Amino acid sequence: MRTANPLLHTPKRPLPKHVAIIGAGTIGPDIGYYLKSALPQIRLTLVDVAQPALDKALQRCQDYARKAVARGKMSEALAAAVNANITGTLDYATLADCDWVIEAATENLSLKRRIFAQLESVVSPQALITSNTSSLPAERIFSELKHPPRATVTHFFAPAWRNPAVEVIDWDKTDPDVIDYLRWVFCVTGKVPLVTADAACFMLDRVFDNWCNEAAMLLGRVTAAEVDSTAVEFVQAGPFFVLNLAHGNPIITETNTLQAEEEGEHYRPATIFRSVDTWVTVPPGKRIEVAPETAAAARDRLLGVLF
Ligand SMILES: NC(=O)c1ccc[n+]([C@@H]2O[C@H](COP(=O)([O-])OP(=O)(O)OC[C@H]3O[C@@H](n4cnc5c(N)ncnc54)[C@H](O)[C@@H]3O)[C@@H](O)[C@H]2O)c1
Repeated sequence: MRTANPLLHTPKRPLPKHVAIIGAGTIGPDIGYYLKSALPQIRLTLVDVAQPALDKALQRCQDYARKAVARGKMSEALAAAVNANITGTLDYATLADCDWVIEAATENLSLKRRIFAQLESVVSPQALITSNTSSLPAERIFSELKHPPRATVTHFFAPAWRNPAVEVIDWDKTDPDVIDYLRWVFCVTGKVPLVTADAACFMLDRVFDNWCNEAAMLLGRVTAAEVDSTAVEFVQAGPFFVLNLAHGNPIITETNTLQAEEEGEHYRPATIFRSVDTWVTVPPGKRIEVAPETAAAARDRLLGVLF
């Protein structure tokens, strides 16, 4: 575990010039927008297998910058620079000169392995390649790569364009200089990197996923809006609001199935995650009235799973 201030580190690599994000779904474009707004001079390439995902992702970046200007948080000139040199493509061959590729495609081990094998055939052996997996240990994703020391997991949290947390996984084959570089680059771009062991679901998803799963187990006795209205006594946003924001239902099913298979049935995901797309709930700052005994039941279970 590294404890030295990352900002006092002298990096062995310069800041990246060309970054690619693989997967332009829920979180990929947000990771790209965070990097582009922190380092507007870089080239950013978004890669997907579906053109509509790319079209929506590029529009999302434009919309974020437009809102930032309207709220006085970004100048017109900076917004133009942030949205310059962002390209969407279906073609991995355009990534040849990338110095960092971040994979944020669907949570599936064999898919991620295929993507990284394809990437290794395109980028240089020095290029950093990292995965935004929520749960899959780095060792399982990367151990068959030709050059694993430049590969690890960099795990962002929704909304990734402004949520400061990012886990950097320290696994057996990563070059320690890569971990030091990632800590440095995240700090200089406004993130808070947390170096984490290579366990299934790492550190924060072991907390977050089981918090959400416990909340889902309460449904039937308590509604999603009642759970969120109780949870805001001790967190900024309730589990169902955050699940909507992150489109997290399929992810919890994957991550908690992995934990259940490896560590015990008590992790098994609630079946309701498979049939619900969006929860009916209230945003942070709004609460519905919750009967005292209902709130007590929700409070005990939510705090209990955290402890
Ligand atoms: N959603 C979140 O808030 C969140 C948070 C942390 C980590 N993650 C992780 O990030 C990853 C992506 O999650 P998501 O919620 O954005 O998923 P998503 O389903 O919204 O998007 C995945 C995208 O990957 C694309 N894709 C599939 N195969 C591809 C391939 N071979 N090449 C390029 N693109 C491909 C899909 O077309 C889709 O657009 C997952 O591993 C997830 O566990 C997500």
